[in-house]
Amino acid sequence: MKDKLIIFDTTLRDGEQSPGASMTREEKVRIARQLERMKVDIIEAGFPAASPGDFESVSSVAAAVKDSTVCGLARAIENDIRRAGDALKSANSGRIHTFIATSPIHMEKKLRMSPDQVLEQAVKAVRWAREYTDDIEFSPEDAGRSDIDFLCRILEAVIDAGAKTLNIPDTVGYSMPEQYGALIRNLRERIPNSDRAIFSVHCHNDLGLAVANSLSAVMNGARQVECTINGRGERAGNAALEEIVMAVRTRQDYFPCDTGIDATQIVQASRLVSGITGFAVQPNKAIVGINAFAHESGIHQDGVLKSRETYEIMRAEDVGWSANKLVLGKHSGRNAFRTRLSELGIELGSEEALNAAFARFKDLADKKHEIFDEDIQAIVSDEAVGAASEHYRLVYLKVCSETGETPLAAVNLLEGGAEREGISEGSGPVDAAFRAIEKIAQSGAELQLYSVNNITSGTDAQGEVTVRLHKDGRIVNGQGADTDIVVASVKAYIGALNRILSGTEKVNPQL
Ligand code: KIV
Ligand code: ZN
Repeated sequence: MKDKLIIFDTTLRDGEQSPGASMTREEKVRIARQLERMKVDIIEAGFPAASPGDFESVSSVAAAVKDSTVCGLARAIENDIRRAGDALKSANSGRIHTFIATSPIHMEKKLRMSPDQVLEQAVKAVRWAREYTDDIEFSPEDAGRSDIDFLCRILEAVIDAGAKTLNIPDTVGYSMPEQYGALIRNLRERIPNSDRAIFSVHCHNDLGLAVANSLSAVMNGARQVECTINGRGERAGNAALEEIVMAVRTRQDYFPCDTGIDATQIVQASRLVSGITGFAVQPNKAIVGINAFAHESGIHQDGVLKSRETYEIMRAEDVGWSANKLVLGKHSGRNAFRTRLSELGIELGSEEALNAAFARFKDLADKKHEIFDEDIQAIVSDEAVGAASEHYRLVYLKVCSETGETPLAAVNLLEGGAEREGISEGSGPVDAAFRAIEKIAQSGAELQLYSVNNITSGTDAQGEVTVRLHKDGRIVNGQGADTDIVVASVKAYIGALNRILSGTEKVNPQL
């Protein structure tokens, strides 16, 4: 029997720590459900003490998820730990993850604490956490740049205090694979009670080595990897879950362990996260990039046709690419739509929301006769965004665009029961439409990102637009999908404006 490699997903916590990636409670619950479907062992749902919104998100995920353990992050501070414990009350299985920095630079400059004070605080933190759960994880932040003798001392003490998982973060992505593997091996060998804890790794990708470092640690005895979907996370991100899982699975001849992940859910998880955060996946990204299984050269194509294994080490369908199937069409009824939603694990929460989504589906089926799972996901995202808190709602949009003429847009928005119209020229139809909206809203927000992705292929495909706005230190995303790109753009812009006006977004969950 091989060892189990525990997959700890931190998309909802570390993955949220990049400007513009913050998610609403509903979005976090949708991602958490997909992670649960994928059989992730532990879902780090957020940092409950960071804000009331984060507290609510962690409690909602804890209530929604039944099969995975739900984890809340807490600094080694009593209030943080109590907030995490309270947020996890409804979890079937809850974990508190507490951390304190151990590198000389962090202790001296950030914490202004001596190593002995840090050790004492870490032990206290684990004891506070034990009042809520036995499942406690401890992280010595910036372990990659910490003194190994001190790491041994503090880790031995927290195991004695009750920590069951020791997570060794390479917080700034500074380590090299051999060095990091050796660190894990040395810690396991030198800490007298190390056999009472599971060693975990948490690597950042500043030098592009997060996955390599994590796998090197696994070869040296780590049995939990912390990772995120699409490798999202602070700065250059974290180790990508899909790469860790598929490396270990594909090279079972090499690794002494395997994960329990249902890899066929990977592509869906990747799309969900990129759709919600607005961070597109690069085409050549391993496993989940659109080109990850595409063979361009004639020699390769010929080889694959003769025998797939000549150039393919994994099968696209094993990670969920085949899930892109034609599901419904113009004649599909409400029941078929409802059934497909539930097969996709989407719960709309009310009949009203189902009706609205079904109306959009019918509308789309009139314009596009093949409706794929991705289209359904986009319809549902659009509804969820629309329902979030609607200060403005699009009534109509009219755009004139012609070669040699300045584009002109007229937008009509519903605001507090009254219709308001804005008209503007622009350098293109999208620019004109955004300016027309601003004539009404006068938000003064700065447009930081405008991106368009086609959800499926073909000229009748829906375009999915992400708009990122910045206002008074807050960064928000809005998404819109439609077969008409200008309409999708306007929906995305209005979605972002509504979020700014709802005031629910955080600047940064760790602040
Ligand atoms: O990178 C890091 O050190 C972290 C810790 C909180 C585990 O995210
Ligand atoms: Zn991190």
